[in-house]
Amino acid sequence: MNYQTGQVVEVTASDVAHGGWCVARPGSGPVVFVRHALPGERVLARITEVTSRLVRAEVADVLAASPDRVEPPCPHAGPGRCGGCDWQHAALPAQRALKAAVIRQQLRRLAGIEREVTVEALPGDGDDGESPAPARPAGLGWRTRVRFAVRADGVAGLHAHRSHEVIDVGTCLIAHPVITDLAIPRRRWPGVAVVEAVAGTGPGESGGFQGGRPPGSQQSAVIVSPDGTGRTRGHPVSMEGITADSVLRRTGPHSRSLAPLRGRGYLSQRAAGRDWRVSAGTFWQVHPGAADALADAVLAALEPRPGDAVLDLYCGAGLFAGVLAPAVGPGGSVIGVESDAAAVRDARYNLRKWPWAQVRKGDVAGVLARGLPPARLVVADPPRAGLAREVIDYLYRPRSGAGRLAYVSCDPATLARDIGLLVAHGWVLDGLRAFDAFPMTHHVECVAILGKDGPPGPEPD
Ligand SMILES: C[S@@+](CC[C@H](N)C(=O)[O-])C[C@H]1O[C@@H](n2cnc3c(N)ncnc32)[C@H](O)[C@@H]1O
Repeated sequence: MNYQTGQVVEVTASDVAHGGWCVARPGSGPVVFVRHALPGERVLARITEVTSRLVRAEVADVLAASPDRVEPPCPHAGPGRCGGCDWQHAALPAQRALKAAVIRQQLRRLAGIEREVTVEALPGDGDDGESPAPARPAGLGWRTRVRFAVRADGVAGLHAHRSHEVIDVGTCLIAHPVITDLAIPRRRWPGVAVVEAVAGTGPGESGGFQGGRPPGSQQSAVIVSPDGTGRTRGHPVSMEGITADSVLRRTGPHSRSLAPLRGRGYLSQRAAGRDWRVSAGTFWQVHPGAADALADAVLAALEPRPGDAVLDLYCGAGLFAGVLAPAVGPGGSVIGVESDAAAVRDARYNLRKWPWAQVRKGDVAGVLARGLPPARLVVADPPRAGLAREVIDYLYRPRSGAGRLAYVSCDPATLARDIGLLVAHGWVLDGLRAFDAFPMTHHVECVAILGKDGPPGPEPD
């Protein structure tokens, strides 16, 4: 069958696919990836894109609904609307089951491994009634970093799915209340392309905002990126109506470097029983419970002992290095590796109490190529693209000393690809935990636990 954009077809969604889609396999013609369906549903799907390889569609009508289908809490979630959430139409336990199915599928296809996977809810998102008076509705109010795109008329909103269209959502229901209180969409942002709002989960200190935030309350930051037209060049961004403690400006539309306009430029984040200094532009888990859960999972996976040597690759602000350093003690060592200058500064500050923990600045592959002392325990938390091939080769080498690896990943596809490569290099997948660190979206955070199978092989070429 030849499909055309705009055509409406009746299909049955048979399975879930990575990226927030369901797959339908009509009797003839290519596979159709349908958004806003659920496995098992019979739907009318409107074709949105036809390529030589696949067809994309979104639900126009549900003919036979899944028992997991619910009314999306946000009016902007749904076909043709905001692209931020993929699974608002599924009950939270069903969302976790869909994510578990995707992880299983990627492991089978890309690593040749069959494995049962459970996606664990983070505190506040579960259905076990753990809190008699929940601080927020389960699955909502968790996102501590939101990136608003700015339209030509200065309105800040969120992108429609796979589109440059910016939707004026008013309030984003998954945003943390500290971000909602900043009321970014209520103000106009001339000359600005992107406004990022960040919330701290630690108490922090009284920030730069003179508007009277009580000491000890959560802090916030706003980062504005110029739109490249030069309209803001030489003109300070108007601070009127911006209530964030810190305001920063990217020095170019895509630059990583930030110029502070007001406040300290960093936030306090709470995890693993302490506060961490994290610069406004530095990576930190966006769910308030995620850093805690991942730090616990990494500690449990690596079982550090006093005297152990540890590598924390892609260490960001030093979360994993900071929980491993006290565990290995002064007889041990921790080396974090990170390329982002602000993150390196944060990590050095966050690790200052443990002189046996250091941070090397640079690209992980480059730092490893220059040589590091052997380390038995390794944690690696790369960006979505996964581990550089040189890192996999390094971990294979006997002189790396690596014997146990906690691989933290936000992309099940690159994780499965890398697990496949590591297993081919003599590693064994000992365990895999997954956390619903991004409710309502298709994203999921995994911690794979790998050990070396027997003595290391010969050095690769
Ligand atoms: C997913 S974050 C993990 C950060 C940290 N482990 C945490 O949990 O907060 C990935 C980090 O890797 C850094 N990064 C990305 N590519 C890198 C590279 N090639 N070499 C070194 N660091 C890199 C990013 O700046 C970011 O801080």
